[in-house]
This record gives sequence, structure tokens and C-alpha cells, in this order.
Amino acid sequence: MKKNYRLGAFVTTVTLVAGLFSYPTSSIANDSREVKGLGELPGVQLNTNRHYYNEIYRPQFHFTPEQNWMNDPNGLVYYKGEYHLFYQYNPKGNTWGNMSWGHAVSKDLLHWEHLDVALKPDELGMIFSGSMVVDKHNTSGLFKKGSGGLVAIFTHAGDTQQQSIAYSEDNGRTWKKYKGNPVIKNPGIADFRDPKVFWHEDTKQWVMVVAAGNRIQIYSSSNLKEWEYKSEFGEGMGAHGGVWECPDLFEIPVDGNPNHTKWVLGVDINPGAVAGGSGGQYFIGDFDGKTFKTKQEPKEINWVDYGKDFYASQSWDNMNQRRVWIAWMNNWNYAEKIPTSPWRSAMSIPREVGLKKTDNGEILLTQKPIHEIKKIRDKKFEFKNRKIQSENIKIPKISGQTQEIVAEFELGSADEFGFYVRKGHGEFTKVGYDAKKRELFVDRRKSGRTDFSEDFAGVYTAPLDSEDNKIKMHIFIDRSSVEVFGNDGERVLTNQIFPDPSSDGLEIYSKDGDVKITSLDVYKLGSTWDK
Ligand code: FRU
Repeated sequence: MKKNYRLGAFVTTVTLVAGLFSYPTSSIANDSREVKGLGELPGVQLNTNRHYYNEIYRPQFHFTPEQNWMNDPNGLVYYKGEYHLFYQYNPKGNTWGNMSWGHAVSKDLLHWEHLDVALKPDELGMIFSGSMVVDKHNTSGLFKKGSGGLVAIFTHAGDTQQQSIAYSEDNGRTWKKYKGNPVIKNPGIADFRDPKVFWHEDTKQWVMVVAAGNRIQIYSSSNLKEWEYKSEFGEGMGAHGGVWECPDLFEIPVDGNPNHTKWVLGVDINPGAVAGGSGGQYFIGDFDGKTFKTKQEPKEINWVDYGKDFYASQSWDNMNQRRVWIAWMNNWNYAEKIPTSPWRSAMSIPREVGLKKTDNGEILLTQKPIHEIKKIRDKKFEFKNRKIQSENIKIPKISGQTQEIVAEFELGSADEFGFYVRKGHGEFTKVGYDAKKRELFVDRRKSGRTDFSEDFAGVYTAPLDSEDNKIKMHIFIDRSSVEVFGNDGERVLTNQIFPDPSSDGLEIYSKDGDVKITSLDVYKLGSTWDK
């Protein structure tokens, strides 16, 4: 497979938001009524080592490899107290190539320890994306009698793409490839990759979902070595602007009710996603061990994230009731051109995935930042119940390159409101709500460096209705990204930005009318990369 298989047509959906930034700027620091004070929170971890993970644009609480190119998360599994994160990695350079599985482990999904490259190319090809399971009862027979271990299922990409396995008897530290690889030969489909495997308890068997062209195929197995084809999903369903990749299939409760569950099939598409280029869609339905069925209309498309940089999401296996996923925070349209060095690409923050029934009976996927992230909260600024009227207000002191903003607004007469983040020297990223269009948006046209790709500057929008006349925004800003969760994770927009390090201002604004900020909490976030 050639690397330029990705350079398909640019499909860009960019909505321009009218209006210039021209409102008077005051400072809320002088307003002692609303300011409840700045306080230190316990458990703060500040980056004390100025040299490690401190290059320009280096994310402070997102995962990045120390150096070189990274794409999709792979082999996510929780095992013996450790979360494993493997990832598509080029050990030899800062662009795509030599695809191998890089590896890191964490005890809290936030602080990561880098380990050796786990899987390297061999005579069957490069090591493309895949997943990981705990073979507790040694169904594979790959482990010593009475013991089990980790089994990786991945795509060998050589002359053709085929599915293979590897196993580890020492908690993922060293790996052996199975001698009988591939375990599923190429069935005559050029794009046949990214197996996600899980144990299906009802039918007591392993199940694999794998991308096959612009469909998903489902296989099952009793031993991870012999696989039987069961069914296919996808013809005429959802978005088909590009090839389908990196499927994931899991069962989760609706509104947290364990007696009412549904299956979620996540499918990535490149190109043809909502913000242009690569992105994720999902289907909600039922799964009986053989077939995935949905009641969704064929033309209905559900986007996972409305920003431009959330691709190839995969959820952790073996986490009991919790379903947490992470994605590659980049887009194939410009991934190899982003101005970072010596690494290229970050993962998103891990997100807890749920389902929510809306008032009209629809079921929506929700994504919320994992609660563990509260551990790195540092200084706080807060106020409540303040009306702002066609103005921009600076949030003092807390400004910085890493922030978490938790805000709730009550709609008033303002056409638009929200935040200017990473502001300075003519640069800003706008995170706002357009009350007329009922859209949450991120405008990164003036966010900093955008010159490396014509496809980078843009405005990305997500439909979002108010609830009880309120809009909630939960925003995470790292040195080179902005993740926005609207209304408790009903809509998410994930975007990279490359501002000057000195652009660290934060303003709250309302345009053409008033809005009431019912509550605002702004935290400075610490680094997870102290050495
Ligand atoms: C998705 C993808 C996968 C493939 C991998 C190769 O980003 O194209 O389909 O396995 O990247 O690096």
C-alpha cells in the first residue's frame, strides 16, 4: 500500500461566521462582587523540568511520543492495573512510514510511561492498526498451561492486507508473533484492515469487526486463530465519501441504565467527514454475535466529533462497566505538515462514552472527559450569575497555555456568545454559540500558524439546542489543541491550533445583546509530563 492512498479529494465543509471582533474590552478583575477568588487545589502537578516536553506546541496533558510520527491508537487494553496504549508509529521519521506499534502504559490514563516499540514490520509487511484482548483462559493455547496473557490482533500490510496476531507473556513488555500468521487471509479486497476484537459473553466467543472497503465485516472465533466470516454491514448506510477504517463495536447502557443497553458501531471515514478530510461516524443498534442491525435510516449520518481532528477512535478493552475511548488528534488532509518537531501528532484526551435518550426519543452518543483529569487542575477562577452585554471581558491571572473552562450560559438577546481563547498579537481561537443558527462552533482562522496547509484555517460547527434555555461549554486548551464539549458531551469539536506561546489571553464575550453566565470555572491545568 502506498502512503498516498490517503490523498483523496478535499471535501471541506466550512461555514464562515460573519461579524468582526469590535466590542469594548473591560476586565472583570475590578469587579469584586462576582469574583470568588483564585485558589490552589490539592493534587497539583506542575511541570518542573523545563527541558522535557517543553518544545513549542508540545502538549502538556495529551499523549505524544517523545519523537517521530504517530497516528491511530491501537491495542487499547486494561490489564493488571495498567492501561496500555499502543499506537501507529514510525520509529525512523517524522512522517508516515515503517509502520510499527509504539507502546506506553499508564495507571490513570493521564500520566504515561514510554516503553519499547512492541511490533515491528516483518516479511508479511508493516504493522497497521488493530486491537488487544486479554486471553484469560488461554483459549488460544499460545500461553503456558494454566496461564493467560495479552493477544494483539492487527493488520499485516504487505502486498495485500491480512489479519495477524501476536502475544505477550510478560504484561506487554515483549512480543512474539504467531507462527501461523496471517489468521485471516486477504479475501480479494484492497482495503481490508483494522481488526477490533472483543469477547462476546452471550455467545461465548471472540468477535472481530474489520474494515473492508466501505463496509464492515464481522468474524467470530473460539481461539483467536481460526476465524469464521459471519456478516457484513454498511451498504448504503451512513457516510460513504471515502474508505471506511478503524471500526469499534461495544455495548453500553442508555442513560446509565444497565437493563437498557445498545450497541455502538464506530466507523471512521477518510475523506468525506463532516469537517472535511478524515473523521468518525457511528451507528446505534443491536448485535447478536453474528449481525449488527440498526433501525437508523440509511441516509442518517451521526458524526462522532464535528471538529477536524478526531480520528480512528478506539475504546479500551477489559475496563468493566466503563467505556473510554481516545482518538488520533489529527486529520489526514494535513497530518504530515503540522509544524511540530521532533514528534508529530497527539492523542485526544480520553473520553468516557455514553448513550442518552433525548426528548424526541432519539438516542445520542455522548462523550465526556474522564474524571481523572480533575487531578491536574491548578489555579481556579470562578464567578456566577453575571450578565454581559455586547462586550468582551478579560479573565485575569488564570491565563495560560493550558486551561480547562467549565461554563454555563442562559440565553438572552445576544446573537452569539462564548470565548476567545489563546488570544494575543492578533491571534485568537473563538469558541462560541450562534443562537440564531443554534450551532456550537470553533473558529481557528486566526488561531496562529495556519500557513502549512490550505485546508487548516476554518470554522467548524455542530448543531446544538439549548436545554432549559441553557448552553454548557466544557473546554480543554492545551498548547496546540482545543477540545469543546457542548451540553454534557452531546456535541464535541476537537481541533488543533498552533498559536504563539505568548498568545495566552482568555476573554468571554457576547455579541449583539446580552447573555447570562450562570456559572464559570476556569482552571489552569498542570503538566502530566514531569520527569
Ligand atoms: C487510519 C489508517 C488505518 C491503517 C493505519 C495505517 O488512519 O489508515 O486504516 O491501519 O492508518 O497507519
